[in-house]
Amino acid sequence: MLTLALSLAALVCTILARPSLNYLENHFTGEDESNEVRSAAIKRLLEVFGMEDPPAIHGHKQAPQYMLDLYNTVADVDGVTKDPYLLEGNTVRSFFDRRSEQVEFRFNLSTVATTEKILTAELHLFKLRPQAMLAFNRHHFCQQVSVYQLLPTTKNSSAHGRKLLSSRLIPVHSTGWEVFTITQAVRSWMADEGNNLGLSVVVQTLGGGQMDTKLIRFASGRHHHQSKQPMLVLFTDDGRRSATVENAPNDTAATSSLPEAPLSGPPSRSARSLDYSEEEGASTSCQRMPLYVDFEEIGWSGWIVSPRGYNAYHCKGSCPFPLGQNMRPTNHATVQSIINALKLIKGIETPCCVPDKLFSINLLYFDDDENVVLKQYSDMVAGSCGCH
Ligand SMILES: *[C@@H]1O[C@H](CO)[C@@H](O)[C@H](O)[C@H]1NC(C)=O
Ligand SMILES: *[C@@H]1O[C@H](CO)[C@@H](O)[C@H](O)[C@H]1NC(C)=O
Ligand SMILES: *[C@@H]1O[C@H](CO)[C@@H](O)[C@H](O)[C@H]1NC(C)=O
Repeated sequence: MLTLALSLAALVCTILARPSLNYLENHFTGEDESNEVRSAAIKRLLEVFGMEDPPAIHGHKQAPQYMLDLYNTVADVDGVTKDPYLLEGNTVRSFFDRRSEQVEFRFNLSTVATTEKILTAELHLFKLRPQAMLAFNRHHFCQQVSVYQLLPTTKNSSAHGRKLLSSRLIPVHSTGWEVFTITQAVRSWMADEGNNLGLSVVVQTLGGGQMDTKLIRFASGRHHHQSKQPMLVLFTDDGRRSATVENAPNDTAATSSLPEAPLSGPPSRSARSLDYSEEEGASTSCQRMPLYVDFEEIGWSGWIVSPRGYNAYHCKGSCPFPLGQNMRPTNHATVQSIINALKLIKGIETPCCVPDKLFSINLLYFDDDENVVLKQYSDMVAGSCGCH
């Protein structure tokens, strides 16, 4: 559909192109301009998704399981937000450790915009099974695991300082993900990138003694499977969430015969195969029709993990007098429709068929630095249509 719109725009542009001396030149000018229109349209679409350029992704990359699970929790198959209140903020970013040492971690946060509000930051470490079943004594059932922020050297002391961020007792025999909150450290890194010297993880016995590192081990990026890599997960908000309330709390038009948010139903892949050109003439009254935006057709399937596309829907049809409640008219539209019907004043059109409820969608994608990001975009899907 988008491609169709783009080629239509290109066609109009070609027709409007100023006359040239010969056919060949005209031909090339037309092609240039249609490419121009296309790239301008893609650029504008990228802006809707808050980007300047499409991220460049080299080779096939795997998104972290945590991010895939998170996406499936907040979004349905089509990417439409299941519950707008599930996620705090509208962005979740994941970063892999760039230092790859057993007990020290460093994450490059250069892709986070300075305008993004840091809500929560978590360090995710995968605890491995103890390597050695060394002579256990009862002090070894639990270990104190502490995460420190490494601080820059101060003028008076040459030694690196460190600040305790989070500390917890972890059973020696457990395996799996351990999550530590490190929000304060990330905020200080965002304030001054030079402060980012990384994190240090210290494991101690209950008595505070040195711990055998064979007993409590965390997976590192270099030595263990990719799915167990240390990860920083950042919940942020870019302030782009719209002011309009989704799922308007009081839907008095609930009796409407219009399709009411059938978004939770089976995936609407079929929307794509529907015949868009099915024209019933201008007599069709205002209703919601499918409009599938296919990321593959736009050439974005390389960096968007999910969804492959989504049904944005569009509103189409006339708003003739008299406007029934199923047209979900505003009072203003009703009055305008009456004025139009009575021809009281010249030049007053019938009301327009427009989306009167909009839903957000979620995108799971790779950013410029090949980190996986989950982002919510508001007002992307027409939930219902009305005469306004
Ligand atoms: C962080 O990543 C950016 C972009 O990839 C790079 O330019 C910058 O040098 C990196 N910073 C550090 C400290 O590695
Ligand atoms: C460093 O020295 C300054 C004054 O010379 C003092 O105010 C500050 O508290 C010292 N900082 C530390 C960490 O000792
Ligand atoms: C919604 O509308 C009903 C009547 O249609 C009213 O009783 C109720 O107070 C309204 N609720 C809100 C939140 O506006």
